[in-house]
Amino acid sequence: DRFRVIGFSRRDLTSKEFQSRIADILKNHTDNKTKKLISLFLSLFSYTRGQFENKNDYYQLKNTLDSIDAGWGLCSNKLFYLAVPPELYPKILKNLVSSGLTKPGSPEEGWTRVIVEKPFGKDAKTARELDELLTKLFKEIQIYRVDHYLAKEMLQNMLVFRFANNLFEGSWSNDLIEKIDIRLHEAIGVEDRGAFYDGVGALRDVGQNHLLQMIALTLMAYPENFKADSIRKNRAAILKNLKIPSAAEIKNSTFRAQYSGYQKIKGVKTNSQTETYFKARAFLDHPRWENIPITLESGKRLGESKKEIVVTFVHPLPCLCPTGGPHYKNRVIFHLEPKEGITIQFWAKKPGSKLELEERTFDFLFRQKEKRVQYTEEYEKLLLDCVEGDQTLFVSSEEDKAMWRFIDPIYHSWEKDAVPLLSYKPDTQEILRQTDRLEEEREGREGRGLKKEIGIIGLGKMGLNISKRLLQAGWRVVGSDEKSKAVLELEKIGGIGANSVQKLVAGLSRPKIIWLMLPAGALIDDFITK
Ligand code: BG6
Repeated sequence: DRFRVIGFSRRDLTSKEFQSRIADILKNHTDNKTKKLISLFLSLFSYTRGQFENKNDYYQLKNTLDSIDAGWGLCSNKLFYLAVPPELYPKILKNLVSSGLTKPGSPEEGWTRVIVEKPFGKDAKTARELDELLTKLFKEIQIYRVDHYLAKEMLQNMLVFRFANNLFEGSWSNDLIEKIDIRLHEAIGVEDRGAFYDGVGALRDVGQNHLLQMIALTLMAYPENFKADSIRKNRAAILKNLKIPSAAEIKNSTFRAQYSGYQKIKGVKTNSQTETYFKARAFLDHPRWENIPITLESGKRLGESKKEIVVTFVHPLPCLCPTGGPHYKNRVIFHLEPKEGITIQFWAKKPGSKLELEERTFDFLFRQKEKRVQYTEEYEKLLLDCVEGDQTLFVSSEEDKAMWRFIDPIYHSWEKDAVPLLSYKPDTQEILRQTDRLEEEREGREGRGLKKEIGIIGLGKMGLNISKRLLQAGWRVVGSDEKSKAVLELEKIGGIGANSVQKLVAGLSRPKIIWLMLPAGALIDDFITK
């Protein structure tokens, strides 16, 4: 009963014209039963024309709102939704405040809230400026930063899957997880969003927000409760621990590319260097997640839509996998698109007289595709949560700062051309294969062609743990120790035990790498001589 939507924009429109634009959108969702309701609904919409930079126009908007309040005899709640390019935010926010529009009725009634859409700034510096402005003008409880990925059903379900079940949480750490891959591959291109997209690029359009939030949801710790503060705090804790990549890491482990034909899109510069594809690697400075590589990859016109989080587990020890592979590894895949669901990949006996293994899957379909109303359902949820004052699905200032800390150095070194801009044929997966290949070549080069094979002399606490990590990473480890018990321990976890230094040396192929994990002192020289 007491609800109004007021459009405020530069365009010269009457309220009737504004209503008929909305009627056009609703047309496809109307039947005879809802027709009457729709026309009632439309009567709640009106339009006030104004220039964003003109303070007086905001007073006019205030008059409109005040007269509605006067009619209702109260101070209503007010929600300001900024559906404008981010560079207009500062001007609009300042005018909203100085015209008194965002002043709450009283501490008890008439709250005011503001919704802003990503990207929040263009880099860490402009994001900080925007954040400073927002926090100067509003309290954090009034600010709703939208990242529609947080409202995606499958991502919300991820927390339920992790925290309402006791199936995986015990193995959810670097003890058993080997790597995580997060993909947001799109079939669609930039189409009619050239002017916006060209100033942003894939890394900042989806990397700085959606993909990093997927990391936060995948790795965050069990929250104290399911309220906004706890969840946002735990998401932020993960994001704050993202290791800032060094110049060398950016050069060696990030890729950017543009699909051919992109520069012909309306609004795109003819010599644009904006990436429509990127791949980057993240690590966390966090005891639970240390050393786990997290790959982020996204791009437009990649031939198919594939949005997913793949969690790969280390293979079990002792390693019973056939020599030369495949290594038995389990994967849990959270699919967002094309299907919504979860797949668990595991190994089972191939029926038959031999003991042969094959990979099988448990497949869980979250819901049928037809049941999904993409974007509408995310925004419906976000708007309703904002009205209800629930900030769980909105990005906090802390999270936003942490995400920029990670993205900023990558973006700035790309700006300086530290990483070449590759080109790919649209609607193919050529670039995915190309970057995989480049990565493999690079790893091969960095490993200088050495086999993953090592001898370890000294299987104390450190020597044994080092062996364990190397075995988990697919190495062949030959180990020896004066204590035969330690040698047995190594064999138990899949290593090859040698009961003398001579046997250890003989058990390694050339060129041999031997690590002496022994107490300092004369002993070392003895062993080297041996
Ligand atoms: C938006 C980006 O935030 O997310 C778009 O601006 C991108 O470029 C979209 O296509 C992806 O969202 P979804 O819900 O289609 O996966």
